[in-house]
Amino acid sequence: MYKQEDKKELERKNAASEAVKHINNNDVVGLGTGSTAVYAIQLIAELVKQGLTIKGVPTSEKSALLATQLGLELIDINDISSIDVTIDGADEFDSARQLIKGGGGALFREKIVASLSKKEIIIADSGKFVERLGKFKVPIEVVPIAVNYVQQQILRIEGKGTLRETEHVPFITDNGNYIIDADFGLISDPASLAQTLNQIDGILAHGLFINLATIVIMGQGTEVRLY
Ligand code: A5P
Repeated sequence: MYKQEDKKELERKNAASEAVKHINNNDVVGLGTGSTAVYAIQLIAELVKQGLTIKGVPTSEKSALLATQLGLELIDINDISSIDVTIDGADEFDSARQLIKGGGGALFREKIVASLSKKEIIIADSGKFVERLGKFKVPIEVVPIAVNYVQQQILRIEGKGTLRETEHVPFITDNGNYIIDADFGLISDPASLAQTLNQIDGILAHGLFINLATIVIMGQGTEVRLY
């Protein structure tokens, strides 16, 4: 028997292996962020070593650095009109492929990349599946001067927003902004909450990804399951 941690890593690796099968020669590929996406980036670099031509669009500085270290060619997001396939992780997903993302703070770029993608493939271990989203707090990227205002607006819609900090210092995103992690309890209507958050000034992006994922590939034990 394997330990819980080994099981999770195996599920992530298997999901990544399945996902890279969707990549074709000459594709522009969105590179996700987070520990699951790392497996995909490593496998994409292997495909390039095997002779495929792939251009990567990173969703974070961290993923850009990893991709470059592994020899992947990157392309500026403003130099393309669409992305063939993106492989990214998620913090939670449900059976309707609604997601919470942004645990690593990269949600804004992840959302732009997902929106430009013809195929947005989410890879996850089985611990990420939920019946209903919301146990994981919804990350919200906020322009620094609007933090207090946005927290008040979140309270008005019966949520509680906490500024993300590392050792008492605000976490800063790749775009120079802050993250508020918002607790709304279990979310009965994620699409409606997403719309409400879209209306609040000062919010650059939130971690509710609605109708963006084309497939979720979840590792389950030694198998993979598709949603
Ligand atoms: C990064 O901001 C996130 O959206 C990640 O994709 C998400 O947090 C999943 O990360 P792990 O694969 O590390 O769990």
